[in-house]
Amino acid sequence: MKLIIANWKATKNSMEVNQWWQTFSSGPFEKKDVHVVVNPAFIHLQLVSDLLKSVHAPFQITLGAQDVSPFPDGTYTGAVTARMLKDVAVTHVIAGHSERRRWFHETPQDVSLKVEQALHHDIHPIVSVDRENFRTQLGQFDDESLRQIMIMYEPPEAISMMAGSIGKGTSADIADIEEMLTSLKRLAPETPILYGGSVKSANAKTFLSHSALSGVVVGTASMDAQEFIKILHEA
Ligand code: PGA
Repeated sequence: MKLIIANWKATKNSMEVNQWWQTFSSGPFEKKDVHVVVNPAFIHLQLVSDLLKSVHAPFQITLGAQDVSPFPDGTYTGAVTARMLKDVAVTHVIAGHSERRRWFHETPQDVSLKVEQALHHDIHPIVSVDRENFRTQLGQFDDESLRQIMIMYEPPEAISMMAGSIGKGTSADIADIEEMLTSLKRLAPETPILYGGSVKSANAKTFLSHSALSGVVVGTASMDAQEFIKILHEA
């Protein structure tokens, strides 16, 4: 089973979420051994949670979040906690996306607290790492936590070009990914590893058919419902 994460980042208002849904939910879908996770902005989690209840897809599809508070409920103005995410049926959360690390100055310690919160509420954390810093980024986790997370390998420069992008829009080549897979497997032999960075329908098969990858994180290409359906067909 492959995990396909749709990361909408900071895009879409509620009308655009509804439009995406209208296109997406009419398919066509093929029966695939995939688990799709749609990650809208916090403010649209409830809306997407409700929309997901009405879909009839021949594969699993659940709700994800792009971030979570490192703290539990309490005096943390502006934060959205893991308990709140669980309440709207979030199953997965991205922790330490390179854009969060870059623009919001998240540290490995912050990411580790986010993971702790997610695990405490039975939400699967997906920890984003890059080539230069993966040892420090994963260094916060003991073996027990490493067994409970998923890793997303995303070279920041591989992220698609759009407003605010830190990437150049060219996906990593398979040799680079395989080298990273070897290093990551040495650190965390049992942890599922996803790839992210300019995944689209034209290249999705390469990543989705790779036996050592447990799935993909799709940003820009997931924001277009038709293109996202095409990616699912490649699984
Ligand atoms: P991209 O982004 O697919 O637009 O490159 C993926 C991600 O950063 O989650």
